Parts: sequence; structure tokens; C-alpha cells
Amino acid sequence: MAKLIYSAITSLDGYVADANGNFDWAVPDEKVHTFVNDLERQVGTYLYGRRMYEVMVYWETETSIPDQPRFVRDFGEIWRAADKIVYSRTLETVSSARTRIERDFDPGAVGRMKASAGRDLSVGGPELAAQAIRAGLVDEFHLFLTPIVVGGGTRSLPDDVRVELELLDERRFGNGMTHLHYRIRHVRDGAARTSGEAG
Ligand SMILES: NC(=O)c1ccc[n+]([C@@H]2O[C@H](COP(=O)([O-])OP(=O)(O)OC[C@H]3O[C@@H](n4cnc5c(N)ncnc54)[C@H](OP(=O)(O)O)[C@@H]3O)[C@@H](O)[C@H]2O)c1
Repeated sequence: MAKLIYSAITSLDGYVADANGNFDWAVPDEKVHTFVNDLERQVGTYLYGRRMYEVMVYWETETSIPDQPRFVRDFGEIWRAADKIVYSRTLETVSSARTRIERDFDPGAVGRMKASAGRDLSVGGPELAAQAIRAGLVDEFHLFLTPIVVGGGTRSLPDDVRVELELLDERRFGNGMTHLHYRIRHVRDGAARTSGEAG
């Protein structure tokens, strides 16, 4: 059974992008990038929300940029070698190889993919990942905390769900980022409601 992994580089207060949509403060340095590359090598299929895909598709044409450092080229090679599924109700076409569009997030279909895949799957960004987390499909989190508080923006984790975690590993990087690797032990959707409100 393959794992479904949610990875995100977030601010300390839990945002993947700030209120202006910027995440330039989340750019990994060489050490973090190399560590991320090693994690990504285990992933055979990326499940992307359309907005995350529009950021990541940059890597399809990254080879056209001269003199990229080795760790950047490595990430591009890993990305291009993986399969991608883009979830979107609006996207007409994709501009990367090994990529298909799905119009709905079907938890049953993702569960079947996990059962049949030879390598792990990953899910991002947060809007799509929230659906996989709520459905109990996500097995592990890799969170990279950036030493910044941005005060608002796009949350990395969903509201109204309770997720009990086991810390598997942690690592501190010289640029102040911290990596936290968690296994998901239990998910309870709608956790913020009181028992009186739950229906
Ligand atoms: N911190 C970092 O290092 C970093 C890196 C990359 C990106 N980012 C940021 O991450 C954010 C992207 O995450 P996000 O949460 O905003 O968006 P997302 O989850 O990547 O994408 C959301 C989109 O996915 C589609 N979608 C979601 N659920 C669906 C469903 N059930 N069925 C079909 N389509 C579905 C919809 O596309 P349609 O509207 O087309 O239907 C929806 O608008 C952006 O703010 C980006 O700038 C941060």
C-alpha cells in the first residue's frame, strides 16, 4: 500500500502564502532543497489542486534556464519523471507531460490509487489537501516551518478537523527552517463543532 503524503513549506503561524499571495519568504536554500529532493524521489504521483499545479508547472520548462545549480536541476528531473493529476473544474489543458485532469476529487478513486501504486503519492496545495485529510487518506505530513509570522493568507491546514499525529522525525536547518515529519494516527472531521451542534 503506497502512502499519501502532504508536504508544505509554511510560516510559523501556518500559512503557505501570505495575505498578498506571496511565498518568497518560503524559498528553500540548498540544504533544504536537497533534503526536499530526497523526499520527493519517493513520490511516483503528485495530486495537485489547480493553483498549486500552476506554480509547480514551472519545473516542466526549468531546463531552458541556463546555469541552474545541481540541486535545482535535480528537483526538476524528479518532478518531470513523476505522474501528475490536476484537480480542476476550470482548466482546459495541461502544459506538462505525464499529466491528466480530474474534474472531481473522488476519495474512493484516490484510495484505489494508493492500493495499487508502486510508489508513494503526494497531495498539494492546501485546498485539495484538506479534502484528502478530511477523508482520512493522508498518511504523513512533512511540514517545513519557516522562521516568520505572516499574520494571514492561505492556511496550510484545514479548519474544523482534528488530526492526531505521531512525530516521526525532526530536523533543524542552518537557514532557520525546521522540518517536522508526522504520521497521522487519527482524523476526526468536523472536530471544532461541539457535540450539541454536530448533526
Ligand atoms: N509555501 C510554498 O512554498 C508554496 C509553494 C507553491 C504554492 N504556494 C501557494 O499555495 C497556494 C495553493 O494552494 P490553494 O489551497 O490556494 O489551492 P490548491 O489546493 O492548489 O488548488 C485549488 C484549486 O483546485 C481545484 N480543486 C480543489 N478541489 C477540487 C475538487 N474537489 N474537484 C475539482 N477541482 C478541485 C480548484 O480548481 P478550479 O478553480 O480550476 O476548479 C481549486 O480552485 C497558493 O497560494 C500558492 O501561491 C506556496
